[in-house]
Amino acid sequence: MRVILLGPPGAGKGTQCENIVQRYDIRHLSSGDILRGERAAGSELGKKAQSYMDSGALVPDDLIIEMMIKAIKSAEKGYILDGFPRTVVQAEALDKALDAAGEKVDAIVNLEVDDEVIIERLTGRRIAPKSGRVYHIKYNPPKEDNKCDETGEELIQREDDKPEVVKNRLKTYHDQTEPVLGYYRNTGKNIIDVRADQDIEKVTSSIFDELDKVDK
Ligand code: AP5
Repeated sequence: MRVILLGPPGAGKGTQCENIVQRYDIRHLSSGDILRGERAAGSELGKKAQSYMDSGALVPDDLIIEMMIKAIKSAEKGYILDGFPRTVVQAEALDKALDAAGEKVDAIVNLEVDDEVIIERLTGRRIAPKSGRVYHIKYNPPKEDNKCDETGEELIQREDDKPEVVKNRLKTYHDQTEPVLGYYRNTGKNIIDVRADQDIEKVTSSIFDELDKVDK
């Protein structure tokens, strides 16, 4: 199964992907996680991406498209795309690559949540750098204070979760990423809209109800 997960920063894309990849046995391809991995490794791509990410702007399309098409080609059993495509240019490039491979996306899940909720979610988010697990100090706390349930490693706050950067990321989302949804609606793709301001478990079960129909 091939799925695209759309939604503003902090909508819960990473959180939901943890559950989705287990149920459907597909790969989680997160453009943000791949970029953070490149930065941690000190690669050329990571260095080029750094200043854009730290300010809440988008990394240039050509860099992202090459990186994500390569990732998609390595996921033969299927995948869920998290954070890509994020511009209409990226969506067009993805369509072109899928057409060339004779493949298609089975569903687009669109997480809907208002800006005020996002600000609270992102400022309270904590992540485990090694396992990649996502927590929230109030809504999804770890069992032991500030430690990952899986690895026991110390949790950290992402640099781009500072309030002033969150504001820029939201503006970038409304200006450049919302049009991607319009692009897909115009092409008649299977779009599943999900209210993401409910409890994490409720959001997961709404997504499973719809993806189970696709994964026959
Ligand atoms: P990226 O890492 O993709 O960040 P993002 O899209 O802004 O998404 P987030 O990871 O912040 O949020 P999320 O939706 O995954 O929410 P989460 O599950 O963590 O991108 C980072 C940067 O990389 C970009 O700014 C850009 O510079 C660059 N980049 C990446 N892709 C790019 C592309 N395609 N093109 C160009 N540049 C690109 O949840 C958030 C918090 O809320 C957590 O604490 C969680 O526990 C909590 N939570 C989740 N769901 C719920 C719920 N239902 N109720 C209560 N709390 C909840």
